[in-house]
Amino acid sequence: MCGIIGVLGNHEVAPLLVESLKRLEYRGYDSAGIATINNGQLDRRRAVGKLVNLSDLLVHEPLAGKSGIGHTRWATHGAATTVNAHPHMSGKVAVVHNGIIENFRELRAELAEAGIAPQTQTDTETVALLTRAFMDRGMSPREAALATLKKLDGAFALLWLFDGEDDLMIAARKGSPLAIGHGDGEMFVGSDAIALAPMTDRITYLAEGDYAFVTRAGAEIFDAEGRRANRDEQRIDLGAARVEKAGYKHFMAKEIAEQPVVLGDALRHYLPNGQLNLPEGLDFTDLDRLTLVACGTAFYACSVAKYWFEQLAGLPCEIDVASEFRYREPPMPKRSFAIFVSQSGETADTLAALRYCHELVAKTVAVVNVPTSSIARECDIALPILAGVEVGVASTKAFTCQLLVLAAMALKAGVDRGHIAPADLDEHLTTLRALPGLMNTALGCSEQIEKLAERLAEAQDILFLGRGPMFPLALEGALKLKEISYIHAEGYASGELKHGPIALIDRSVPVIVLAPHDRLFDKTVSNMQEVMARHGEVLLISDGKGLAAASDGTWATLKMPSVAEPWAPILYAVPAQLLAYYTAVAKGTDVDQPRNLAKSVTVE
Ligand code: AGP
Repeated sequence: MCGIIGVLGNHEVAPLLVESLKRLEYRGYDSAGIATINNGQLDRRRAVGKLVNLSDLLVHEPLAGKSGIGHTRWATHGAATTVNAHPHMSGKVAVVHNGIIENFRELRAELAEAGIAPQTQTDTETVALLTRAFMDRGMSPREAALATLKKLDGAFALLWLFDGEDDLMIAARKGSPLAIGHGDGEMFVGSDAIALAPMTDRITYLAEGDYAFVTRAGAEIFDAEGRRANRDEQRIDLGAARVEKAGYKHFMAKEIAEQPVVLGDALRHYLPNGQLNLPEGLDFTDLDRLTLVACGTAFYACSVAKYWFEQLAGLPCEIDVASEFRYREPPMPKRSFAIFVSQSGETADTLAALRYCHELVAKTVAVVNVPTSSIARECDIALPILAGVEVGVASTKAFTCQLLVLAAMALKAGVDRGHIAPADLDEHLTTLRALPGLMNTALGCSEQIEKLAERLAEAQDILFLGRGPMFPLALEGALKLKEISYIHAEGYASGELKHGPIALIDRSVPVIVLAPHDRLFDKTVSNMQEVMARHGEVLLISDGKGLAAASDGTWATLKMPSVAEPWAPILYAVPAQLLAYYTAVAKGTDVDQPRNLAKSVTVE
């Protein structure tokens, strides 16, 4: 996902722009650039690769000026080259963009008829060319930007800067988040509060469809219909926005280690003093069904929760990945809740799925890590997961905190629907409240896992197996490993092995079996033995009882503390995350910003 920053300052802005872009690195990028206005003249510097390349360029070719915009680009249209890097310029216009202009080819054809040819492969350049064309017809910067906006289809956040206008930025939001920062005689625009943290904690989020004229005196905000709009100015907790590694080698390592603490925060909020603390509006009593929709890791959290809602509350539960759900356009029972799980709260497909459901279901519910995000703001009920800022592209602490919130919801559903007796509720709450301590024990396996990872790093293919709610965890373990180590990994329901995947098994394929000693354990052990009979190398992750019963013949074992069914997926996420982390470290990949990935996918 691209990152945007803009500053109308009282001092040289180039260093500030680069510092802000550094805070946006977590979103993933492959090139960066800034543009400033110096003595009324627009100028820019751009570089491929990491921000250090842009910084080096600025040392040799400095950019002066107190007004500027900057951008980190995650390539969508056009390769990661300097020419395709933002800001894009045409005449007196510079623009940076996050998102996709869906109709840029048609617009290019219109421009070509006017004799205006693109210089790049990007959709963003079309915005600069259009705005310039309108200005060439005599429009002012404000008029030209608005005329351009009206012609754009797609999901985007845009920020314009104009030659000769060193006290004006024009911002627009349609699908991708954008925030305005308030300073003392200075004003800022950025993709999120983290980008603006070096300058201010006073933030105004633009709403969907808003545009704004920003000067040092302040921001004039207009809604999609062109009416003046008053959007709240908020004070953002800079502690959350100021994110450091705190001595860890990677953000991912820090975020894995933080889980007992942040899970404790979520437990204290949702399960205080042995009670369930959920919004009144979350009454599951008369529902016919739940629908849970998400992407990636968040979808695997939904997949685990399906077992909980069905088994603990007798509530039918449909799950789907958002990119499929939004185009399936399934019939939705009115007496149902649609639950959208998203760490960033900005994932385009999940947001689109939410918008499909809004008028069709009784309530839409967001389970998100960013309470000010689009998904949070557009749902009827928003439940923050309280994981704190998650910087590593591979989601870890957000996953376990999502599971905790979904667990609280499943217990509430069970109580509402008379499936859980008070004594059983107490037992579940006691188990969940013990999880931070159990997680600390699981984190104690780190050194052992680091050694196992040296073998895993040599593999070409790795299988993860699980049954019941451990099956989605097998999928999550495979995703974690593949997305940061680049090793092909697949998760399978262990009962599915004989239906095909067992053909993959030989000595070169490590098989990671996630199997607490639960009522499905023996079934999983049978599958595991089928693997070992074909010389597959099995790493069994289980509790003491499970390891005592089934360690013979395995390549290696990892011992987890015992945990009552069905909460094992929350605990077993820790070894799955650590296996991925240490395998990636052994491979020497970019753990926090793996290739081709972005922290939040705000485009389709
Ligand atoms: C998780 O490790 C991945 N980075 C990715 O699958 C992520 O979970 C997915 O893109 C959904 O993001 P969200 O939770 O912000 O909606």
